[in-house]
Amino acid sequence: MFKTDLLKDKVIFITGGGTGLGRAMATRFLELGAHVIIASRKLEVLEKTAAELEAAIHPVGSILPLELDVRDYRAVESALEQTLEKFGRVDVLVNNAAGNFVSPTERLSNKAFDVVVDIVLRGSYNCTLAFGKHWIDRQQKARVLNIVTTYAWTGSGYVVPSAISKAGVLAMTRSLAVEWAKYGITMNAIAPGPFPTKGAWSRLVPPGVEEKMVQRIPLGRVGDHSELGNLAAFLVSDFSGFINGEVVTIDGGEWLKGAGEFNLLDFLSQEQWDLMEAQVRGAGKSKPGNG
Ligand code: HXC
Ligand code: NAP
Repeated sequence: MFKTDLLKDKVIFITGGGTGLGRAMATRFLELGAHVIIASRKLEVLEKTAAELEAAIHPVGSILPLELDVRDYRAVESALEQTLEKFGRVDVLVNNAAGNFVSPTERLSNKAFDVVVDIVLRGSYNCTLAFGKHWIDRQQKARVLNIVTTYAWTGSGYVVPSAISKAGVLAMTRSLAVEWAKYGITMNAIAPGPFPTKGAWSRLVPPGVEEKMVQRIPLGRVGDHSELGNLAAFLVSDFSGFINGEVVTIDGGEWLKGAGEFNLLDFLSQEQWDLMEAQVRGAGKSKPGNG
């Protein structure tokens, strides 16, 4: 869908880029000419991903795996320094790293609550702050892309630490999009619906629930990783330069279906609609005051 040099020479730092959707974005960015840094806790996973992508894509740009725990601000600064040593600059930060699992909230220990909030919310603002300070010092235009979810604004039971954190990341997106625009730093978010990944499915989808999830999606299917990769590529490219503070939902219509009062009428048959129409038209003909 894009020219193969869409992201030529851009240096893009993706937290959690070794697996799942982070890997899908790294793949697409490399195909489009970017240099990519993938950073997370498990260096061996990152190195394996880097080797596989190099073999599969033979990218023009290079891929740098970096060990990083986004909860640690000093470690974020160090990862930024290593990026600058290798590439001399960085143009885009993608806050993608996350931790999450389903659980009734009352079963969580305070540590379990902390671990998710620390990865998702603290991790995202740690990276944003360190990269933002660097870009402002250098007077460099740059871009941040945050990966949230649709329950950042609807909220959701059974993933409350994640919902709180993603809501915070969305608020950060809209706040800094305005505050840092004067420095030429733009900030947007993507809100994916269900995209099967090992990380998410193993922690969030109890047996037998996937089918029910799909039934909630008007398009009747889950997302394809390449669809997310292409959207992210557009949002980090120069062609989306005037988009700022936006959150783009990519969920097949899922959250709106849950929100719209009468969307549950999907199940009515044509015969039932005929009966309903007759009932409604009949009601319209009855004279006022007849009861
Ligand atoms: C209750 C749990 C638990 C569970 C862990 N804990 N799993 N409590 N139910 N299922 C508790 C532990 O008992 C411990 O508390 C505390 O949480 C920390 O657990 P650790 O295992 O020590 O933490 P850590 O090794 O740092 O692992 C972090 C993690 C893990 C978040 C728990 O799942 C992880 O590494 N996740 C990274 C990848 C990930 O989550 N990907 C999915 C993103 S998908 P105590 O008090 O016992 O010490 C996503 C999609 C959203 O966000 C939308 C989908 C549609
Ligand atoms: P995933 O494969 O589990 O990705 C999460 C990544 O975060 C992992 O690569 C993990 O790597 C990294 N990570 C976790 N803790 C970290 C830390 N402290 N420091 C640095 N990196 C850390 O899951 P995914 O489904 O691709 O999720 C990617 C993003 O999409 C997340 O923001 C998630 O909330 C969002 N999302 C996913 C879906 C979906 O359906 N899949 C839907 C909506 C939103 P390490 O273990 O190596 O650290």
